[in-house]
Amino acid sequence: MTEPGKTKFQIDLRRYLRERNENRDLTRLICELAEASKYVINSIRTGDLGVAGTSNLYGEQQLALDVLSDRIIRKRLIHSGVVANMVSEETADIIPVSPDCEEKYSVAFDPLDGSSLVDVNLAVGTIISIYKGCELFQAGRNQVAAMYILYGPRTTMVYSTGNGVHEFAMNQLMEYTLVQENIQVEPRGSIYSPGGQRNKYSPGTEKFVRNLEESGAKLRYSGGFVPDINQILIKGRGVFLYPHLQDAPNGKLRLLFELNPMAFLMEQAGGAASTGRQRILDIVPGSIDDRAPVFIGCREEVARAEEYIAAEG
Ligand code: F6P
Ligand code: MN
Repeated sequence: MTEPGKTKFQIDLRRYLRERNENRDLTRLICELAEASKYVINSIRTGDLGVAGTSNLYGEQQLALDVLSDRIIRKRLIHSGVVANMVSEETADIIPVSPDCEEKYSVAFDPLDGSSLVDVNLAVGTIISIYKGCELFQAGRNQVAAMYILYGPRTTMVYSTGNGVHEFAMNQLMEYTLVQENIQVEPRGSIYSPGGQRNKYSPGTEKFVRNLEESGAKLRYSGGFVPDINQILIKGRGVFLYPHLQDAPNGKLRLLFELNPMAFLMEQAGGAASTGRQRILDIVPGSIDDRAPVFIGCREEVARAEEYIAAEG
């Protein structure tokens, strides 16, 4: 029975992870990242929008928000004591933290995805992918955890350690408390988020999108990967695509920092993620900035995209 004055929504992140018997070090890592996000959200709300490399009025170097977010998260990862290697979309080099591969975790992260949306006050996010051991170049299906933090009108956090997908929201004390556990997406949806220029779509992608439009699906594209994926997970339906384009055969989004963690979360929620020809989580990245086209969301929609692409490219 719920204690008087307490609802199940007041379970905080650390307690939730502990009650689910998550590994102690992994719990520590996830909580450190949640802690880092408090400083990231603070910089987003009040920080300077200056470009890195320029000086402010006082001759001090101005930091772009994504450089600042990168530093905040890097510092926390080092501080956690459980990280072997880390790589960030901002640094583009693997940063060794500890040679202790057996016991530790390696982390790929996009500190502030969609940072160009901050000046127009649209939602942005942090995306994180976690592997056991030292290796970062392995198939995404081997992730032991993935999470994102969405800085929107509210700050929310969604994570999975391979046992379902759970959503938390930051309360007035800046603690993450449980909103929803075991998030599931329906097999079919009626929302679509199409990235990339339409006049550069392949015939298969064009047919897929036209089919969605003819079926009455609603267009919902924010230009931020985190809010666009969060919409599908929380509404429980929809499909996001950033496909192969005539001048960009691998689309735009990066495997290590963007696609793998989101594909892991989507599959955990009963959805799917594909390049149009292959499951995202089966790709072994060859380099830090490998990209891939993506169709991610409700399983039947993703399967239909694959059919059209197999038939028409
Ligand atoms: O990092 C890439 C990103 O900003 C994503 O957040 C987003 O999904 C995508 O780029 C948007 O790209 P475009 O501006 O081409 O629509
Ligand atoms: Mn990004």
